[in-house]
Order: sequence, then structure tokens, then C-alpha cells
Amino acid sequence: MAKVKSSFFCQNCGAQFPKWAGKCTSCHEWNTIVEEIIQKEEKRNWKSSNSAKRVNKALQIHEISTLQEDRIHTNNHELNRVLGGGLVQGSVVLLGGEPGIGKSTLLLQIALLMKQKVLYVSGEESQSQIKLRAERLKGINPNCLILTETKTQNIFKTMEEIVPDVLVIDSIQTLHTDFIEASPGSISQIRETTAELIKFAKETNTPVVLIGHITKEGTIAGPKILEHMVDVVLQFEGDRNHTYRILRAQKNRFGSTAELGIYEMQSTGLREVTNPSEVLISEKDTDLTGTSIAATLEGMRPLMIEVQALVSTAVYGTPQRSSTGYNLKRLNMLLAVLEKRAGFRLGAKDVFLNIAGGLNVEDPAIDLAVVCAILSSNEDVAIPQNFCFAAEVGLSGEIRAVNRVEQRIIEAEKLGFEKIILSKFNKIPSKNHKIELIKVSKIEDVVKVLF
Ligand code: TYD
Ligand code: MG
Repeated sequence: MAKVKSSFFCQNCGAQFPKWAGKCTSCHEWNTIVEEIIQKEEKRNWKSSNSAKRVNKALQIHEISTLQEDRIHTNNHELNRVLGGGLVQGSVVLLGGEPGIGKSTLLLQIALLMKQKVLYVSGEESQSQIKLRAERLKGINPNCLILTETKTQNIFKTMEEIVPDVLVIDSIQTLHTDFIEASPGSISQIRETTAELIKFAKETNTPVVLIGHITKEGTIAGPKILEHMVDVVLQFEGDRNHTYRILRAQKNRFGSTAELGIYEMQSTGLREVTNPSEVLISEKDTDLTGTSIAATLEGMRPLMIEVQALVSTAVYGTPQRSSTGYNLKRLNMLLAVLEKRAGFRLGAKDVFLNIAGGLNVEDPAIDLAVVCAILSSNEDVAIPQNFCFAAEVGLSGEIRAVNRVEQRIIEAEKLGFEKIILSKFNKIPSKNHKIELIKVSKIEDVVKVLF
């Protein structure tokens, strides 16, 4: 019998230690180090019979043939966009996201829509549960096979029989391999099963999509090393109480990480949102005070987002400041700028800020829209509906330039806005825009234009 080998792993960061300690020296977390049995055997391969020792030859760079990356188009444009044009053959994609956000739904839906043969392996749900879900999604793909299995060796055996074009695993935390005795979901199991899957993907040239759970802190559960091992890391995020979901690439060896996909969760699955700006701006008949529209960019995609503010006299001693979808510290900073540089008395007022659609915006170009929404509510004067904003506000009340301004202008124009307020310092390539560009340099200028 092989000697039982064990090692100690931090369950938080995945660092390995020869002996137990109370505190992880790598991530400084307490009580996260756990002993795991790693009984290794020499002959370990995804294919039990494959023991041929092949040694690769080193080549000069010009000798290497540049095969055009073979991509599988997934029939889901938003996913294709985020992946950089489709699933690359032999690549391993990790999809992370909070529980209940829709990871299984997204992948099952894609599997059901694909023309290629897909093997969907679930360790979390039974076949009948998956059938029920598939009935909701109304997809029928005779090429989509469902397997409930958690042992990697059995999955590989099935793969050898049916030879699918794409393998989907839901989720990596439920898998276990025979060669390691630690329980499923532990650091060493996750690491080994992922390594086996990657080896399998590279040797058979089959793309593998893995679902990964997320910890409280928002990182993919399991070692950080997992993110280093795979080719693509996708993050599925959104507010569970809202219907919009954003698919982002955190790492992509075959494309840009600036792209993002937008979906809407419906009772029949996830709908692709191809024109996000139109959905995010609410319809209204009359001009309302306290709302403004910002021309923002999420990654590479321009998005017109509605900012809503409410300013009212504080009933209690300490005024309240609350913000949804926008950084509260930044809101406080903008309020201080308005107080000090533009002379608005907001110190004794409650200020509430909300970004419509449940989105979380980090683009600084939304600053000016935030300021204008606050002023509009404070002065009780509505901002005309044909106005939008794209500029950052600095500490001295100056209106600063933003990046990719051209893209923002085009999006605003496309949606029928007639005036966009920008920084004077933004260099705009001379082009005839139908939309009127209003250039300002200080908050006072904006106030003059609007109120
Ligand atoms: P799920 O894919 O199970 O989440 P995850 O795998 O990320 O944990 O998503 C479950 C949620 O999605 C659940 O709250 C119900 C909702 N849902 C819909 O709104 N419409 C649908 O068609 C489906 C299948 C699920
Ligand atoms: Mg799931």
C-alpha cells in the first residue's frame, strides 16, 4: 500500500505548509489551516491506458505554425463577445458568481442552444431537476447530454464513449479524484481535479467550462491558484433583487478583458440585452427633479445610466447620506466640493443617491451626472430630458476630461440626446455631431447652463 501522505493547506488562500499553524503566514487569516491527505500515486492520467511518454521538441519561434485559433461559436452573442469571439478549442474557462445568480441557468441554456455536442456534468442537481430547468428554458438540443457524476475518472470514461465537443462542469467544488483522499471542495481536491481537467482539455482539444463558487469575500472559493491555472476567468455578477446580470472577463488569454455581456433574468431563463442603454433609462412623461443621465463606459461598452438623487432637510441632528450603486465616500467628497466650491448648503440635508437598474458604477465619468442630480433635487428644478453628462469632478470643483469621449458621444447621439455636457479639456476629434457639445470647466458653468 502506498504511504499516506498529508499536508496542511490554508482554506482561504491555498498556501501549503509542512505543519499546522494557527495563522496563515501567506494571507494572515487565523484558523484556516487544515490537514488534508494527499495520497499520490505515480501513474496518474486522465486516460488510464495512456502511459506513453512523449517529449515535446523545442522550436524556434518562426518554426511554430500559427494555426488560426479554432473557436466554437456558442450561439450566445454576449458570451461570444466576452470570450473574444467564441470558445477556443482546448481552453478551460472558469465561471464564478454568487449562489443563485444564474450560473447553472446560463450554462445549461447555452448548452441547450448549441449545435455542437455538449456534455453537461452536474454534481449539484439530479437529472430530473435539470430536466425541469431545461423545460423552463425551452431549449431542445438532442446533442446536449446530461450526466450527474462527481468522480473525475468516471467523467473521463463517459467522455471517451461519447466524445463531446464541449464539456461543462457544475461545479468544480463538487468534483473529486481517486488519487487524493481529501473531501470534495477542499483545496487539494480542487487543485487536482482542475489539473486533471486542464490536462484533459489540452490533450483532447476539447473546451471545458467550469462553474466555481464564490466565498463571502467575493473571490472564487478554493485557491487563487485555480485562477492562474485556467485560461479564462469569467465573473457573473448582479444584484439578486434586480433582473440585470453582467458577465465580465477577469482574465482572458485569448481576448480582451474589457468586454462585458449583459443579460436579463426572466422566467424563461436569461435574455441577452443587446441595447442596454435603452433598458436602463426609465420612461417618463414629464421632467422629474433629481434625475440625470450619465454617458458611462463599462469596459468597452458605452452605457447610458440614470442617476437619481433626493435631497431633503434632515429631520434628525445628523444628516443621512446613502448611496446605492455608487461609492459612498465619493458621494461625500462631491457633497463637500459642492459646499466649499459652489456654495450650496448641503451640510444640513439628507442626501440619497441611487443608480437605476441595480448596477454598480465605477466609471468616474458619472461624477458630473451625480452632482447635477443632487443639485436638481436641491433646487427643485428638473434637468431637461434631452441632456446627458460625461465628466469627472475634481476636488477643486473643476470638471475633468474622461477617456473614450467619442464613444460616449456617439452612444448619446444614437439614443436621441440633444445636448451632452463635457469637460472643456476633452480633446474631441473634429467630426460633425448632431448632438450639441457643451463644454464646461467649473461647476459654476454647469449651474449657469442648467439652472
Ligand atoms: P441558478 O442558475 O441555479 O444559480 P447558480 O447556479 O448561480 O447558483 O439560478 C437560480 C435562480 O435563477 C433562481 O433564483 C431562479 C432564477 N431563475 C429564473 O428567474 N428564471 C429561470 O428561467 C431559471 C431557470 C431560474
Ligand atoms: Mg448552480
